Amino acid sequence: MNPDERPQRSAPTALEARWRVLAPPQAVESARALYALTPLWTSGNLSFVDEPYDARREGHWADAARVADYAAALPAGGSRVLDVGPGDGWPALPLTAALPHAQVIGVDPAPLRVAVCRANAARLGLANAMFVVGDGAALPFAAAAFDLATAASSLEEASEPERVFAEIARVLRPGGVLRASYQVWRLPAPRLETVTLVGGVDSLLYTYAVRTQQPPRERRYVLVLPPAGAAAAAHRDALVLAAAAPRAYGETLLTPGSPLGVPLLERLAPFARRSLVVGLRRWTTGWLVEALRGAGFAEVRATMHAGDLARAVARRLIASGDLDAAAPRFAVLTRAFGEAAARAPGESMVTAIR
Ligand SMILES: C[S@@+](CC[C@H](N)C(=O)[O-])C[C@H]1O[C@@H](n2cnc3c(N)ncnc32)[C@H](O)[C@@H]1O
Repeated sequence: MNPDERPQRSAPTALEARWRVLAPPQAVESARALYALTPLWTSGNLSFVDEPYDARREGHWADAARVADYAAALPAGGSRVLDVGPGDGWPALPLTAALPHAQVIGVDPAPLRVAVCRANAARLGLANAMFVVGDGAALPFAAAAFDLATAASSLEEASEPERVFAEIARVLRPGGVLRASYQVWRLPAPRLETVTLVGGVDSLLYTYAVRTQQPPRERRYVLVLPPAGAAAAAHRDALVLAAAAPRAYGETLLTPGSPLGVPLLERLAPFARRSLVVGLRRWTTGWLVEALRGAGFAEVRATMHAGDLARAVARRLIASGDLDAAAPRFAVLTRAFGEAAARAPGESMVTAIR
């Protein structure tokens, strides 16, 4: 393991100290271990994949624009597309539908994610999508095998992102394009602690995450719990409390004295079948742009996020009461937003040309 990713050894919080005593975690190198624990990473509500686009929903404007953005990044005449870390099939599956002439291959190190993607592709009748188990840091493909590589919130999940960038550069042909979304590491506080309670594979999961701005790191501590009995009852009670608590990053924010922190940990830890700690490096746009150049990309541009652009317009349409009138133009407008985003400087998405 990269020394930077080891669980922090100095000054553990009270919660971490209790965690180590009650359910000693097993360190793992990257987030792939987490994605093997949940049957559905996206909770089964991924637009296009799990539910058709609905022009009355702001999030669907954003998602359709993101797919249009990825599709527009395919160089003219190209047809070979690689999606790194598709999770349950995003953006690989909607992109496959948007580019019926292309062959889209998704590669994910978590076999469970690959099985979900394959099942989704079969259900949707997408014959031009293929999914394989593999690590972005050691891609199982020949050099120059792809015209376009996409990645949505997945590059930052690797323990050694620089190796993933170099591998993507290797498998893209000269002039090939990487179009990726990423999380800009800009926390509202120097340190944030959150909790997530979800169902896992034949289990329940309690995750405690610590994010720090400096150094830019995220660490996730996971308890894998039995799905019945006292652990399940405590997990269920906690879900009710979590629903009323403030949120950050789609998770429950731990505020001082929250019963979802140390008290809940102490209740749940004795039941844990397994405990994991995952260390992740996070990054800023400047770091990412330089790292991609260092990996061999000739041109790298940080751009606007197509989803943000489309969401902002949808919000305005909702506020002005014009959403229904705009709905018939959903496909045309989201395509236009998708095509515009990659040309506008910004953050959260990057274009890197080989
Ligand atoms: C946050 S999820 C994003 C999934 C999907 N792209 C989406 O936007 O819904 C991150 C995905 O990256 C995958 N992943 C983790 N480490 C990876 C690696 N080293 N190479 C490629 N994918 C990886 C995980 O298994 C997971 O499916």
